[in-house]
Amino acid sequence: MTDLLDGRRVLVLNGPNLGRLGSREPDVYGAMTFADLVADCEKTGAELGLAVEVRQTDDEAELVGWLHEAADSKTPVVLNPAAFTHYSYALRDACAQRTAPLIEIHISNPAAREEFRHTSVVAAVATGTIAGFGPNSYRLALRALTTLTD
Ligand code: DQA
Repeated sequence: MTDLLDGRRVLVLNGPNLGRLGSREPDVYGAMTFADLVADCEKTGAELGLAVEVRQTDDEAELVGWLHEAADSKTPVVLNPAAFTHYSYALRDACAQRTAPLIEIHISNPAAREEFRHTSVVAAVATGTIAGFGPNSYRLALRALTTLTD
C-alpha cells in the first residue's frame, strides 16, 4: 500500500445504463447486478484498505460534477464512462483536470465490439485503462490504484 492511498477514499464512478447491470444485455455484461457490483467494490476496497464509494448516473452533467469534486479533493477515481467514453469531450475535459490517478475501466472489451466503441476520448487523459475482464475490471483497477505513486 502506498502512502498515496493509505486510508484514502476512492470514487468508483459509472456512466449511463450501468445501473441496469444484471438485466442489460447479460450476454455482453454478465449477470451481476449493479447492487452486486457496489457490494463487490466495497469488499475489494476493504480488503485493500480503501474507503470505496460507488456512484452511477445517466446524466453527463452529474458525472462531470463528480469529477470536479474528485479533482478538488485529490481523490483517486475508477471510472467506467460507459457510452460517454466514445464521444463526451466534456467528460474528457473533466478527467484532464484530475489531481490524482484516474483509471478508465470497461466490463466488456470495446476494441472487440462495434467500430464506434473503438475510440475512447477519455483514454489519453487517464492514468491507464483496464477493459474486457467483466466485473473483475473493477477489482483490477482498485488493485492497480494501490500500486501507483503519482
Ligand atoms: C462499457 C462499454 C461501452 O462501450 C458501453 O457503452 C457501456 C459499457 C463497458 O463497461 O463495457 O455502456 O463501458
